[in-house]
Amino acid sequence: MAMIGMFKFDSTPIAAALWKNLGGNFHDLSQAICEFCDDSISNFNGNLTDSTLNRVVRIQVTPMNGMVDITVEDGGTGIQDLNNALRLAGQARKETPLNEHGFGLKHALAYVEGKGSYWEISTRTHEDAELNRYRKVHTPYSFSGDGEFHDGWIGSLGRTGTVIHFTCPMDIFNTLNPDTNKELSFDEQLAILKEHLRYVYADILQSGMARIEFISVKNGHPDWEVLQALLPQWDSSTRVVIPQQDYDLGAGKVKISCEYGCIKPSVENHNYYLGNMETSGVEVRINGRVVERGLMKAIWGRKVHNAENAFLVRVNLETNGFDVLPGTSNEKNGFRKGDRRLRKLFKWIRANVQIPNSCRESRECQLFRLLAEKKKKEPGMTRVSLEEGTFLTIGLHMRIDLFTCQNNKVTIYEGKVKKTKAIDVYQLKMYWDGCIEDGVPAEEGVLIGGSHSAEALTLIQYVNRMTGPDGRRYNFRTTTWKDEGIA
Ligand SMILES: Nc1ncnc2c1ncn2[C@@H]1O[C@H](COP(=O)(O)OP(=O)(O)O)[C@@H](O)[C@H]1O
Ligand SMILES: [Mg+2]
Repeated sequence: MAMIGMFKFDSTPIAAALWKNLGGNFHDLSQAICEFCDDSISNFNGNLTDSTLNRVVRIQVTPMNGMVDITVEDGGTGIQDLNNALRLAGQARKETPLNEHGFGLKHALAYVEGKGSYWEISTRTHEDAELNRYRKVHTPYSFSGDGEFHDGWIGSLGRTGTVIHFTCPMDIFNTLNPDTNKELSFDEQLAILKEHLRYVYADILQSGMARIEFISVKNGHPDWEVLQALLPQWDSSTRVVIPQQDYDLGAGKVKISCEYGCIKPSVENHNYYLGNMETSGVEVRINGRVVERGLMKAIWGRKVHNAENAFLVRVNLETNGFDVLPGTSNEKNGFRKGDRRLRKLFKWIRANVQIPNSCRESRECQLFRLLAEKKKKEPGMTRVSLEEGTFLTIGLHMRIDLFTCQNNKVTIYEGKVKKTKAIDVYQLKMYWDGCIEDGVPAEEGVLIGGSHSAEALTLIQYVNRMTGPDGRRYNFRTTTWKDEGIA
């Protein structure tokens, strides 16, 4: 058919509606905070030779007039190209694979702005620092407009860097609570956010490539903390480590490393490594940042079996290349299905990882986990720790079954599923001595079991008449799982 004429059409996006829509892609505040952290960490790693940088991300959270004031600051190079950074799909200055789609920053800003928040970005490059100024842009977002130059610098981490500041209405802050049936306090929600960051960036925090500092300010008092990597506690007899190796996912080599096995379910964590269906399976990281977790069916074609609730595979892909990795979703909470590099990765996992016959928790671990969960709820309890190391000061790592601290009083537990024996009393005595050696003396040692043998009971009376290495008497007692309301 011949062309017989031309007509004009205009499908320029409606800026305000597009922006509003973009904000709807996130479902909780931690996603927005991770986008800011991603950009900071990407900036550190993309500028490894710049020795002037302070490779710290500092997150400060301050409740204020029914809102929460949040700043995410880094000591990086500052945003070199603010036009690109603010442009939807701005991919002109990707520094590492953590910058992928050119959307993260805008997604996060649109999310908070959509809920009525004020935001501002202040940034200072070496060039700005020379001129003793910084640049600032703020709400409302627009595709073009005026930025502001300010003199000096509001940042606290270094001469250059970026400070993102926003006010967060309580209803966005409350999205940190994954369980809407349960009311959580402000501090509990903060604990969830911190745990999330410790999990998402675990390998980065552990390697020391970047540090995340968390400051919560209450009644003018800052509570400062350096976030430590959240790692699983492996059942060491099942753990397999596959050393890092080069592997081509079809578009160039990446370095792949993997460890897998069964974990000991955590009683301290809120959302990770709990030894249940949601927190088991395969977790895949790119350069140490988690992208997807809970993968099982997509790889092996079947769901997690009950006996595999503690089965965990941690895979990390290291590279500075952009196209060699499987693509991630725009919200960075999963991979894009159907990507051939992802299929190849799954094939590698199937070939290298052997699913254990059973990751069933031993009965003893299960009983202690239930006891720990109960203890955690008691008033005045500040610490409940399973398999706590002792005799650390002399280089040993004996493990106490359960260690608690309630109203500053330390109690240690040794237990057996069924009937306890004399030897178990001596094991408890060893833990007692270890705690003294390590400078955390216990006030009470508890022997717990299904029941107690006559020899164990006699020996406890005998030991309680003796004094320990610090001149105090041993103070042991017995209890049973039944008496503790378990089993
Ligand atoms: N804190 C920061 N420091 C330096 N550059 C940044 C920072 N935040 C964003 N940028 C720049 O903005 C660009 C776009 O960021 P973003 O919208 O998050 O896209 P992407 O999803 O690709 O990371 C990044 O490629 C980077 O060049
Ligand atoms: Mg980003």
